[in-house]
Amino acid sequence: MIEENEFKKVCKLSDLKEKIGQRFFIDDVDVALFKVENEVFAVSNMCLHQKAAIIYDGFVEDGFVTCPAHGWQFELKTGRVPSGIKGLDKYEVKIENDDVYVKVFKKILKW
Ligand code: FES
Repeated sequence: MIEENEFKKVCKLSDLKEKIGQRFFIDDVDVALFKVENEVFAVSNMCLHQKAAIIYDGFVEDGFVTCPAHGWQFELKTGRVPSGIKGLDKYEVKIENDDVYVKVFKKILKW
């Protein structure tokens, strides 16, 4: 089950540096935020490979972020790996004036 939250104000657009990720906890979700050419992308900060919370520290190039630990790549627009099968959770972003809002969701296991 997926629990969707509301948009939350996270930071100013001017706080984000081009292609330099930042980490935010939004409604208890660990999120990596990237600004690339005035577009902002929000993905899960948890790498799929070894569940390391380091995506925000990744290298950004050609629309992908590369995990600094072992080089797995994820598309910023979709969160997917290059083969397209699975990937990081991708969150909605909206920008109003200079404010960046992100809407996260949580995956909840029901037993
Ligand atoms: S932890 Fe990200 S590639 Fe290994």
